[in-house]
Amino acid sequence: VLHLDTAACGRQDAATQTVVAEHVRLEAEIGGYVAEERALPVIDRLRADLASLVGLAADDVALVESASGALGALLATWPLTGGTVAVAPSEWGPNLELLGRRGLDPVHLPVDADGVLDLDALDRFLARERPALVHLVQVAAHRGLVQPVAQAAAVCRRHEVPLWVDAAQALGQVHEPPGADAVYGTGRKWLRGPRGVGFVAVAAPYAARLDVLRPAKSSPDLPPARLLDSDEAHVAGRVGLAHAVRRLVETGPEAVAGALDALGRTTREALATTGAWQIVGRRHRGAVTALRPTPGQDVAAVRARLLEEHQVLTTASLPWRAPGELRAPLLRLSPHLDCTPADLDRVAGALATA
Ligand SMILES: Cc1ncc(COP(=O)(O)O)c(C=O)c1O
Repeated sequence: VLHLDTAACGRQDAATQTVVAEHVRLEAEIGGYVAEERALPVIDRLRADLASLVGLAADDVALVESASGALGALLATWPLTGGTVAVAPSEWGPNLELLGRRGLDPVHLPVDADGVLDLDALDRFLARERPALVHLVQVAAHRGLVQPVAQAAAVCRRHEVPLWVDAAQALGQVHEPPGADAVYGTGRKWLRGPRGVGFVAVAAPYAARLDVLRPAKSSPDLPPARLLDSDEAHVAGRVGLAHAVRRLVETGPEAVAGALDALGRTTREALATTGAWQIVGRRHRGAVTALRPTPGQDVAAVRARLLEEHQVLTTASLPWRAPGELRAPLLRLSPHLDCTPADLDRVAGALATA
């Protein structure tokens, strides 16, 4: 299969697969809890590496199962009393559902014609309004839209309004550590870790105020953000993610982000002449290419035919992913750096006939 679906679930490299399998074997040999004890230094390094990618400290990082699980944990423990949550129109749909369930009414922040947050307008908005929080998706799921989250964090800080950043599509794809009050994501996409491992980082002043149980068995020295750690966990997955993230940090997240950005441009150039599809967006960033069909094409059916008849894996981005701006389905291609020019020719050919 030609895998162009990193934005859904990236491919683990062979070394990561081996590390996961070795931990599973160790669990069977010496016991799961003893194996976990042995893996603690590796898992601590994972926290430090994730912290460096999000612009917070290792003690701020908790490990959970998914990005949605992380948002759920924040919403369950952050001292919130309802009100509004300010979001961009491109906000991830399932986040809006979780925020709404917690009694937060979404209001749209001003964005430019490409959907990028207008920072001056954010400043004016926060001088006027008092949302319970600002919630930003750093990189949209359905197109190459990157929000200036680090700059937004500075504006929010000036107005003492907390900023939470969903970095599920950002970590490993772009390298702009948000340094926000809370940042969360998952390891299975651009970090190319195993499924079932996510993270949430909460800046120390806010972590101290989380309404979270401190179990009697936990050490009194445990930093408060760490109380969000899920107790029972896919430890082999955490070890695998630790390996994948270490590789990224050693290679250089900026270099990887630059190469992915270039790959995105090459992909769009290769597909620009595919008459039946129009490339979405003008100021693209990152490796995602979104294609708008011409009338009459059924995106979900094309996605299925690409996989079944051409062995090309893509995503049909349906409007629920971003109900604030996505009116009709798009076809999403999200390659990683193993994608070659010959692969792009193959996609262009498949798209012409699918
Ligand atoms: C921007 C964004 N946020 C959140 C999620 C949800 O992640 P998870 O499935 O790990 O809960 C996704 C998944 O695609 C996403 O793209």
